[in-house]
Amino acid sequence: MSYELRSARYLAREVLERAVRPEGTVVDATMGNGHDTLMLCEAVGPAGRVYAFDIQQDAVKETEKLLKSQGVYERATLINAGHEHMKDYVKGPVNAVVFNLGWLPGGDHTITTRWETTSRAVQAALDLLGTGGVLVICAYPGHEEGDRERQELAGFLSALDNRVYNVLRQQFLNANAGAPECFVVQKTGK
Ligand SMILES: C[S@@+](CC[C@H](N)C(=O)[O-])C[C@H]1O[C@@H](n2cnc3c(N)ncnc32)[C@H](O)[C@@H]1O
Repeated sequence: MSYELRSARYLAREVLERAVRPEGTVVDATMGNGHDTLMLCEAVGPAGRVYAFDIQQDAVKETEKLLKSQGVYERATLINAGHEHMKDYVKGPVNAVVFNLGWLPGGDHTITTRWETTSRAVQAALDLLGTGGVLVICAYPGHEEGDRERQELAGFLSALDNRVYNVLRQQFLNANAGAPECFVVQKTGK
């Protein structure tokens, strides 16, 4: 098989690899262990900038270690704060914003993203996007708060003005309950 339809994380990565430009400014709204931050640092190149947020100090430390080991730490600004404060740290327009919702793999499952703050951060991300910029969100409805986030997010994004944003939802219709979903928004207008 030369091409395989795969899960939310793969679509997120594909979109980001196509949309993020060298020298771009991008945001990782949920830094975690830094895998997305690393990918974004590689995509923007030495003249780009990646702003990454996490409320957990451990996530910031792990990400710092990873980026240093890969020689791209200078491209990133790691911020130990909630993504709902994004606009206090980042000046638009940005090329891409990525959210990987939920909790830190291998970490404390009680420290998870929550719709109250996710919604404010998603609005901030939409405000910061430049024309052609993308917002990519992976949601994990396999736990109660994740399911709430997925449902609220779907309603919120469905209401966006289609003269300004294109909104895509990736959902495997025959998947087991709780399968991750990917939402992609592209700003096409002003
Ligand atoms: C699924 S993990 C992210 C994984 C990460 N993208 C990676 O590549 O390793 C979700 C992260 O969101 C963080 N988080 C929860 N609430 C947050 C908030 N309000 N602002 C920023 N990060 C938050 C958690 O601490 C956790 O590390």
